[in-house]
Amino acid sequence: MIGIFDSGLGGLTAVKQIHRLMPGEDLIYFGDTGRVPYGTRSRQTIIQYAKQDVAFLNSMGVDAILVACGTVSTTALSILQKESKIPVIGVVEPACRAAAAHTQSGSVAVIGTVATIRSGAFPNMLKNMCPSLQVYEQACPLFVPLVENGVIDRDDPIARLAVERYLMRFKGSGVDTMILGCTHYPLLAEVIADILPGIRLINTGYEAAKALCEGRVAEGTGTTRYFVSDDPEMFIASASRFLGEDVKGQVEYVDIGAYYE
Ligand code: DGL
Repeated sequence: MIGIFDSGLGGLTAVKQIHRLMPGEDLIYFGDTGRVPYGTRSRQTIIQYAKQDVAFLNSMGVDAILVACGTVSTTALSILQKESKIPVIGVVEPACRAAAAHTQSGSVAVIGTVATIRSGAFPNMLKNMCPSLQVYEQACPLFVPLVENGVIDRDDPIARLAVERYLMRFKGSGVDTMILGCTHYPLLAEVIADILPGIRLINTGYEAAKALCEGRVAEGTGTTRYFVSDDPEMFIASASRFLGEDVKGQVEYVDIGAYYE
């Protein structure tokens, strides 16, 4: 049974991919909806939240954890891995591998939360893999609140304005590959693609899920249980819409403050 967590809806990008690749696997998803967003918080707070998220998933008996959150993957992954008895996988390495394999121009953009961009984790990994790459970064702090509030349609003027505000600089810049370094951002992919046609968008949750599934044999009944740290109702509506299936009855509240390592 795999545990997956994010601050909210973003990690569902990984869930969707695991459902496709390993339909027989059992999943426990935790979305920290009571404390979203993570990406504007301090390193210390992000580490504390992440440790509690992992403690909750461990209490459910998972045998591997996917950190389906760019912010936690870039800020706390090595700490979580050091303290864990089971494998903990983040999104940075799989996404960088995909970007390095895809780029023809050698110019790659990384977009993410303020904490992710502050960490420098994506450019460091990309440069390690391929020192000649040009890497450009941009924090997009308005994107997570837009996604959490369902403002994601390609004809939504507010979504378009926000995307233009952060990403116009990449138009005609030679960048041919963009890492969506926050797992929420693929929900805005249609709007981003309209504004930056021709740029390949790397979905970090999807790439990390693919990496996790490699060599793994599904042993379960294909059940997914979802847990959130605030009222399940809003999550049920957005998650059902994104996953294309009704998750009503599968979403439970958890008091995440009660979990400590
Ligand atoms: N999906 C999280 C990430 O990948 C969102 C962070 C946030 O809550 O700000 O960074």
